[in-house]
Amino acid sequence: MPAKDPSKIPVSDLTSVQAKGELKRLAYEIALNDKRYYQEDAPKITDAAYDALRDRNAAIEKRFPHLIRPDSPSKRVGAAPTGRFKKVRHAVPMLSLDNAFSEDDVRDFVGRIRRFLKLGEDEKISFSAEPKIDGLSMSLRYEDGELVTAATRGDGTEGEDVTANIKTLKDVPKELKGRNLPKVVEVRGEVYMTKAAFLKLNERQKEAGEAIFANPRNSAAGSLRQKDPAITASRPLGFFAYAWGEMSEMPADSQSGMIKWFEHCGFDTNPLTKTCHSVEELLAFHRHIEERRARLDYDIDGVVYKVDRLDWQERLGFVSRSPRWAIAHKFPAERAITVLNDIEIQVGRTGALTPVGKLEAVGVGGVIVQNVTLHNEDYIKGIGGDGEPIREGRDIRIGDTVVIQRAGDVIPQVVDVVIDKRPHGAKPYHFPKKCPCPLHTDVVREVTATGEEGARARCTGEFACPFQKIEHLKLFASRRAFDIEGLGEKQVELFFEKGWVKEPADIFTLEDRNAKIKLEEEEGYGETSVGNLFGAIRERRAISLDRFIYALGMRHVGETTALALARGYGSWKAFHEACLKVAKGDEEAIAEMDALDQIGDTVIDSIKAYFGESHNKGIVERLIKQIDIRDVAQPKKDTPIAGKTVVFTGALEKMTREEAKAMAERLGAKAAGSVSKKTDYVVAGPGAGSKLADAKKLGIKVLTEDEWLKLVGQ
Ligand code: IVH
Repeated sequence: MPAKDPSKIPVSDLTSVQAKGELKRLAYEIALNDKRYYQEDAPKITDAAYDALRDRNAAIEKRFPHLIRPDSPSKRVGAAPTGRFKKVRHAVPMLSLDNAFSEDDVRDFVGRIRRFLKLGEDEKISFSAEPKIDGLSMSLRYEDGELVTAATRGDGTEGEDVTANIKTLKDVPKELKGRNLPKVVEVRGEVYMTKAAFLKLNERQKEAGEAIFANPRNSAAGSLRQKDPAITASRPLGFFAYAWGEMSEMPADSQSGMIKWFEHCGFDTNPLTKTCHSVEELLAFHRHIEERRARLDYDIDGVVYKVDRLDWQERLGFVSRSPRWAIAHKFPAERAITVLNDIEIQVGRTGALTPVGKLEAVGVGGVIVQNVTLHNEDYIKGIGGDGEPIREGRDIRIGDTVVIQRAGDVIPQVVDVVIDKRPHGAKPYHFPKKCPCPLHTDVVREVTATGEEGARARCTGEFACPFQKIEHLKLFASRRAFDIEGLGEKQVELFFEKGWVKEPADIFTLEDRNAKIKLEEEEGYGETSVGNLFGAIRERRAISLDRFIYALGMRHVGETTALALARGYGSWKAFHEACLKVAKGDEEAIAEMDALDQIGDTVIDSIKAYFGESHNKGIVERLIKQIDIRDVAQPKKDTPIAGKTVVFTGALEKMTREEAKAMAERLGAKAAGSVSKKTDYVVAGPGAGSKLADAKKLGIKVLTEDEWLKLVGQ
């Protein structure tokens, strides 16, 4: 008989040797998943599976305390910071919470507190009951009422300095409101993205042919980890205050009092927070919030109960990484079991092949789910991007009974396969080697920047692939591009299939050809709707350069990049000439493009590929004959700072930082958030820190505020 997999043996049955091996495996797996979650914003297992790993580790350590490893996960919280941002040591560590999954766990928690504090049976304990926001914890340090540092949790001891990015959040006061503020105040809470904003952001990412985020938590993390605060500013992030770190004085003596004080200081706190006085009330709160969960506009994964009296909190203290005075009462994941009827391959605008699972319809947390994303070939095979199994080596087969979960309430995923229910003869899924498009061209796996094989498969049919053409036409007519009313996805498909519109230019000749086509005879059309459609098309013959560039559908050129390019070149003529030169490898043209704000190698490579393809050049040439592309105002060129990059740091006395930045931009300069070789001036006021040091190191000219104002002639 084969030896039993030690990871399946109940903790109570483990031998000491097996326990040692298990602790080693768990330390590795937890560290790996921490890294994916905290550093890469790309978790590969569910929160429940992660919690199970930690719980098993804790249970084994409890039974075999002599085997606790020096690198035990119970001694760490989260993963070390990524290193891209300056590190910040937390004055008071940022700890984590223990979890309760059942009502009994909550009763035990309250019982433990009672015993610890030696409280009599009839002595009441009040708790602050709060939703557990599924975002990123953040520590905001205020000195003399002014925000000085914003740091992520990191490993709990040391986080990342994301001050510049956090300052772009409207929910985070740059200055605390109120008088007699303590000298040092550290407000802690959660940065989150609303579900609506997350959906919108993903739509934009998709249109730009860029990676989409798995859930709002990841997109909030990704948005905060930007080197350029302007990108963070463009992503709507919120903040709820619920805890604190170092405080030079305490303004209240209870958790609920502190929450009220945060509100006075100008913070948002969660409106569902409630004070409860018994286990029964806590459990009712849990049920109430769970019932509201799907309708909330932000993700939560449970509720948190905290002893309200701060003197009691102090007496209770901490056990390893979590407080004795608080617990997270988790919600069960929103999961369902159903059958996978089929796997379909969708081809996107850029030729990426995405497998989509077709399910027997099932309700998950109040929403009917019929499709699941299966991401890519490796995901179906059950291996992660770096060769790691993600469903314990279980692959997904057509006919399988699968466990699905709505991640971030939006994109459902397959989290497990019920092997016992696998039909006889179910075969491993073979990812197609040929594109399902009528050309049946070869499918290749992308090569990543490091030269390794990536997970994404692509159709090599390129611009001849009809599927890619349809997707491009859909983008072309969509709201953010040409915005042609009456030419939605369905109509584009119909017109393409009929052969009436094969490329963008055809849209504008449709009216002239209609004598032959007779669109009004098509089902769903009549004289009026046809007239309206042609009217809408005529109206869109004039378009601004930024929209036009976006509508070309180049990879990595979303709306923001298109606008940056349009502003950089001003006119279609200048942009087009530059692109053709870039495609030929003209170094000067490439350097000029590279110098533009927000444009780097990825975009340049994409433009090179697009304009290097004769098929595309033809499409563009035929299209521009039909339309009128309006110039976009370029920043002023005849000022002393035109084309220069300026970084403001420290306090400014004559104007706010926002105003100074806006002035620089008006005068044709770029105001950047960090100092690099590309920086021309650093304007440093009192309190300037690392940026000033960077400027000195790189030999960049440093100006005082007055010198700056003189330079710009103000
Ligand atoms: S209190 C010492 N309250 O949950 C404990 N945490 O697993 C301080 N979280 O790192 C945390 N909502 O990111 C607290 N109302 C809430 C919360 C909350 C979300 C997160 C936070 C923390 C994690 C703990």
